[in-house]
Amino acid sequence: MTQRNERLVWDLPVRLVHWLIVLAVAGSWATHYAGIEWFAWHRRLGYAALVLVVFRVAWGFVGTRHARFGSFLRGPREILDYLRGRTAEGHVGHNPLGALGVVALLGVLLLQASTGLFANDEIMNAGPFYGWIDPALSNRLTTLHRLSSDALLVLIALHVLAVAWHVLGRRQPLLRAMFTGRKPAADVPVEQAIAGSRTGLALTIVAVLATAFAIVVRTAPEATIALY
Ligand code: HEM
Ligand code: HEM
Repeated sequence: MTQRNERLVWDLPVRLVHWLIVLAVAGSWATHYAGIEWFAWHRRLGYAALVLVVFRVAWGFVGTRHARFGSFLRGPREILDYLRGRTAEGHVGHNPLGALGVVALLGVLLLQASTGLFANDEIMNAGPFYGWIDPALSNRLTTLHRLSSDALLVLIALHVLAVAWHVLGRRQPLLRAMFTGRKPAADVPVEQAIAGSRTGLALTIVAVLATAFAIVVRTAPEATIALY
């Protein structure tokens, strides 16, 4: 299909951040299971995931049309109508059920990466904010870090199955759109297409977030792990 028969829906930051989050999460998992000597990379990839997710949340307020939470979040009635096939028009961005999945994924990712900052392995490794809290609280947050990694796995499995169903079962080019940003013109009324990606604004937000986070991490106290 030529570009003329398609219209831009997903801006570049949404697409790039999606695939970078996939890499950061896969890397965080891999580095945990690769062993203790990979912890420095677990920490770095976790930081990357955190900055990317916080950026995506901010982009949900200041990003382009279909990236905004206000444009895709729907109430229970609209989700039920969608499930019963009663929605008249198609959905240019996320559909009402998909939107729920997006919020759940972002929420659990946020929980996962932020609990990691306070977690410890009761041997030698800890998140940078361990020294700021009571060791018993760190242990509880470590348990949450473990539980949320299971929840994240379940959500990702559902997410990939849902995408596969839309792509293979209903022949909707969702996956392609997450790479190119474009959907067939027939599915995107001309007034709903986005004009550009606001990449400059996105880069500024990421730079500010990453710098602020790096400063906070550097101010955190050095801590030795409490052994039980
Ligand atoms: C999306 C980002 C992250 C993912 C997917 C992730 C995933 C995991 C997983 C699967 C475990 C093993 C849990 C278990 O033992 O069953 C773990 C442990 C751990 N993570 Fe993360 N993590 C992330 C971010 C972070 C961050 C930012 C830090 C902070 C430095 C961190 C610090 C830790 C620590 C200290 C442990 C050891 C706890 C233990 O050994 O059980 N994680 N992480
Ligand atoms: C670590 C694993 C993954 C996470 C955490 C994740 C998370 C997300 C999030 C948060 C969104 C919303 C995008 C936005 O509005 O910014 C999304 C959308 C999407 N993801 Fe993933 N994703 C993961 C893996 C995958 C994989 C492996 C695929 C490919 C099969 C995929 C395909 C898609 C597609 C096609 C969309 C757009 C859905 C739509 O059109 O409504 N994702 N994902």
